[in-house]
Amino acid sequence: MRHLLSTQDLSRDDAILILDTAGQMAATQEREVRKLPTLRGKTVVNLFFEDSTRTRISFEAAAKRLSADVINFSAKGSSVSKGESLKDTALTLQAMGADAVVVRHWASGAAYQLAHGGWLHGSVLNAGDGTHQHPTQALLDAFTMRRHLVGSPEGAGLDGLTVAIVGDVLHSRVARSNVQLLHTLGAKVVLVAPPTLVPVGIARWPCDVVHTLDEAIEGYDIDALMMLRVQRERMTGGGSAFFPSPEEYTRLFGLDGDRLGRLPEHAIVMHPGPMNRGLEISAEAADSPRSVIVEQVGNGVAVRMAALYLLLAGEEGAQ
Ligand code: CP
Repeated sequence: MRHLLSTQDLSRDDAILILDTAGQMAATQEREVRKLPTLRGKTVVNLFFEDSTRTRISFEAAAKRLSADVINFSAKGSSVSKGESLKDTALTLQAMGADAVVVRHWASGAAYQLAHGGWLHGSVLNAGDGTHQHPTQALLDAFTMRRHLVGSPEGAGLDGLTVAIVGDVLHSRVARSNVQLLHTLGAKVVLVAPPTLVPVGIARWPCDVVHTLDEAIEGYDIDALMMLRVQRERMTGGGSAFFPSPEEYTRLFGLDGDRLGRLPEHAIVMHPGPMNRGLEISAEAADSPRSVIVEQVGNGVAVRMAALYLLLAGEEGAQ
């Protein structure tokens, strides 16, 4: 594996190797072996054209804990604001000797373009491209589910689990990445969304689709309930107007204390963040003992350490 662009590119064995490696990385962190020498001499560039808190910071922490040199590049305040293209930005990074580029971009396909444009020699890790993919988010979600819901994680998939993903599927790279990865790992996926917030072609996705959260809670034995952020910043233009109203959305799709109480006792509550508290999730649900939302963030560091390690130091890495 040279790049990590999409969960669609991952075989079951690839995904389990990343999750197992992340488990080993997490164990080093739990033993307080904070820094491993594995990527000493390598340079990782964080190239962010869109805002991020969790992904950017955890990629930086992951690279530093593997002893890589890290360069943080934000489009704001760079020559991108003077009109510099993705190609010229990439050529500049190549000239500076980047071994890996972690890219977040508002355009779907930007990470693929960077990986296959012939401008970079190193690996590209997709940290979220438009509404398309966010593979490390799906991997950290799978890692979190496996730890909580599967008895003996090493080597295991998510076979037999039922995961409901709720909300603004239309704009969600997290939903796309998760549906593919969860299917690869053997879980059943139920998408819960208003008809106005599901993508064209969803009938071909390997999942069920229902149109209220109550329908999902009554109809499925849910092991993990993943709430999605309503992405109001992407709801511009008539084609993607936010319908129903925020109040109606909360009534039909919001996770509150009552719905939380109707989930199976073992079910966990997830959210990729950032959350719109009071819209898709209440404070009671977000802060409940069944919420693993903060743990997801922590697991992101181990999963990103695993991805960087496997791409840059693994047998086939850094070709
Ligand atoms: N989940 C996620 O991608 O969060 P950030 O936008 O803060 O990176």
